[in-house]
Amino acid sequence: MARILTGIQSTGTPHLGNLLGAIIPAIQLSKETNNQSLFFIADLHSFTTIREANKIKENTYATAAAWLAFGFDSKKNIFYRQSDIPEVCELAWYLSCFAKFSRLQLAHSFKDKLDRIKDINTGLFTYPVLMAADILLYDANIVPVGKDQIQHLEITRDIAASLNHVFPNTLVLPETKIDERVMIVPGTDGQKMSKSYNNMINIFLDDKKLRKQIMSIKTDSANIEDPKDYNSCNVFNLYKLLANKNQVNELKSKYISGGYGYGNAKQELFELICINYKSQREMFMHLIQNPKIIDQELKEGAKKAREIARNVLVRVRKNVGY
Ligand code: ADP
Ligand code: TRP
Repeated sequence: MARILTGIQSTGTPHLGNLLGAIIPAIQLSKETNNQSLFFIADLHSFTTIREANKIKENTYATAAAWLAFGFDSKKNIFYRQSDIPEVCELAWYLSCFAKFSRLQLAHSFKDKLDRIKDINTGLFTYPVLMAADILLYDANIVPVGKDQIQHLEITRDIAASLNHVFPNTLVLPETKIDERVMIVPGTDGQKMSKSYNNMINIFLDDKKLRKQIMSIKTDSANIEDPKDYNSCNVFNLYKLLANKNQVNELKSKYISGGYGYGNAKQELFELICINYKSQREMFMHLIQNPKIIDQELKEGAKKAREIARNVLVRVRKNVGY
């Protein structure tokens, strides 16, 4: 049985881009297969940039609540918090002794951070080593990730191969699975939706705040009566990701015929989100208000994950000489 594993960094409440681009497809994949999936919240990775204890906790709850609200089956699969499995830090150490300094220096994500962040800590530099440990600690075979993570997976395979070269048959080399259904969700300003650009739509906000975010979507200054170009409209581009064919065609004709303002389109987008995600928004709220349920889910997941982790670590320790 192949083991599928992926991690989600907990940097805030997942936005519509995270949901459509990562969370929903990953849950779909976990449902389509008979294999067991391990999904975890990479809260140790978040410590590279987050310095508030409450934020670390809050983000973990928000991330977990989003996955559960969207139907991730934590009974069939294993759903856990990275920091609940301390074995990962021990493996990361062994791996770091095989990770080439020069290779880590060339990682895109690190170079990008070097350009953006003033205070670069070593955790940001060794981020890919901890990620390799996340994967190799569970003998994962398949790792579904977005394109931005391909290099981290290559680093994982390189480290594992180097260690295996010296200590044969110690680590299982994983395969990367890139989701080719490239869906880049645009933000309220038309750029890729991202926490870093502050252009998010957070469907888990209450109605009033959610509506305000949607009303802030940038549009051009065409008058109400003008016919409008739907292709270049940020509101339309978001609407079409969520609507069915008929709804999209109806909105297209409203744009073309004129006499229809962007405010109306935003209202329709708001209503569509409320209808489509009614149950998920309610479930998210319920979980956030009852974090004990989330803790319980993650605790059960950690128990299952740790059993696998311990066995792998016993093998690693034995092979490398401890
Ligand atoms: P952010 O850019 O908001 O910090 P992350 O880098 O934490 O988001 O992304 C988490 C996951 O969500 C990744 O798999 C990423 O590919 C996906 N994702 C993020 N933003 C988008 C988007 N705008 N459209 C599609 N997928 C996205
Ligand atoms: N670095 C990944 C991201 O930002 C999150 C992650 C951490 C991960 N550990 C992992 C993904 C292991 C896959 C496997 O999206």
